[in-house]
Amino acid sequence: MASGTVQDPTQLIPRVLGRYSPVFVERGEGCYVWDRHGDRWLDFTAGIGVTNTGHCHPRVVAAIREQAGKIIHAQANVFLHTPMLEAADRLTGTLPSSLNQVFFANSGAEAVEGALKLAKMATRRPAIVAFRGAFHGRTQAAMAVTTSKVRTRAHYEPMPPSVYYTPYPYIFRSPYMGPPEDADLWYFRELENLFATTVFPEDVAAILMESVAGEGGYIVPPTRFMKNLRQLCDDHGIMLILDEIQSGMGRTGTMWAFEHYGVVPDIMTSAKGLASGMPVSAIVASKETMDAWAPGAHGTTYGGNAVGTAAAVATFDVIKDEGLVANSAKMGDRMLTGLREVQKDFPVIGDVRGMGLMVTTEFVTRDGGPNTEMAQKVIEKCWERKLLLITCGTWEQCIRIIPPLIANEDQIDEFLATYRWAVSSVA
Ligand SMILES: Cc1ncc(COP(=O)(O)O)c(C=O)c1O
Repeated sequence: MASGTVQDPTQLIPRVLGRYSPVFVERGEGCYVWDRHGDRWLDFTAGIGVTNTGHCHPRVVAAIREQAGKIIHAQANVFLHTPMLEAADRLTGTLPSSLNQVFFANSGAEAVEGALKLAKMATRRPAIVAFRGAFHGRTQAAMAVTTSKVRTRAHYEPMPPSVYYTPYPYIFRSPYMGPPEDADLWYFRELENLFATTVFPEDVAAILMESVAGEGGYIVPPTRFMKNLRQLCDDHGIMLILDEIQSGMGRTGTMWAFEHYGVVPDIMTSAKGLASGMPVSAIVASKETMDAWAPGAHGTTYGGNAVGTAAAVATFDVIKDEGLVANSAKMGDRMLTGLREVQKDFPVIGDVRGMGLMVTTEFVTRDGGPNTEMAQKVIEKCWERKLLLITCGTWEQCIRIIPPLIANEDQIDEFLATYRWAVSSVA
């Protein structure tokens, strides 16, 4: 594991950064990375949903290089600059007209923190409702609304107060015993019960939800649930915050996952794919909502960084010019069809679900429980054929399949062949 003068990386890098792959990477291009032995790997982790335009897209690289030669850091309180304005313009241009102002930050968690603060400021209410199984980040407030795995929270109590939880509509593991098509109503009643028993709805500033649950297991909520949720928020003056950090930027075959449901949030968070790997995140809301923040009520030194937002502008242009949203939908269909064929032969795959190129297979034990071991074995088997994947789900029982949105039919088919081989080898 030596690199240059460093003989043992574990002396320098803390173990908190658990290793998800054996790769020591040298460079990346498109859907592939090359390790320092010169071996090529098919990267279907996409930097955990970041490199939607592929590794080092030439237009993104050129935008970064060009901007770095002009000005790198043009602090947003001190200067206005073109990349930040253009990135805000491109971003709002993909959204409904009510989402028309952008606050740029640096990470997903920071965007979530800011969105929660904004909702509290705009409503002057104290409480937040979040979904059990959600992941929103690791800073204090983001951690308080995160319940996908207890290890994220362990030994960090107390959490910020007045956060209440309701189950994410995870139909595959629903305790509801009635007809599956009504399961969403059971989840909605759970939310209503929270308001009847635990928190007064007029005390709630925001309900925060991932448009598709990411870390929690790539769970797609039913459309009727989303519509009922939107109505509930309207009835009580609660802001609906949709976290599109993983599900946005074309990932699910629409630019934003909420488009699938026909609902519009009051506040949206974005990060990950927003700038193809430069650390840029955003909070988007109406001008009226953003006006609740007086100058200085929120801020950050690096937010709206010139090089980062130049990469964001190039990212939006690549997604548009190369038709990546449509490609995500088309390749996603091919992926789902292929995975359902694999599922037919291997009952260890209990569920195949997703939208666009945000897809998962959930592994189950004989009695239907989460099969953590099988998911990990499949991932390690795939390494033998130089394919990189990562897990998701509370018990890490799912393998998330999240290629760059530039993936073509050959790469999807190459993946499917390797995946079938891996599952058949270990199942
Ligand atoms: C839906 C969602 N929200 C928030 C975050 C936190 O983002 P970051 O790791 O950039 O803080 C993530 C990261 O995985 C995420 O998937």
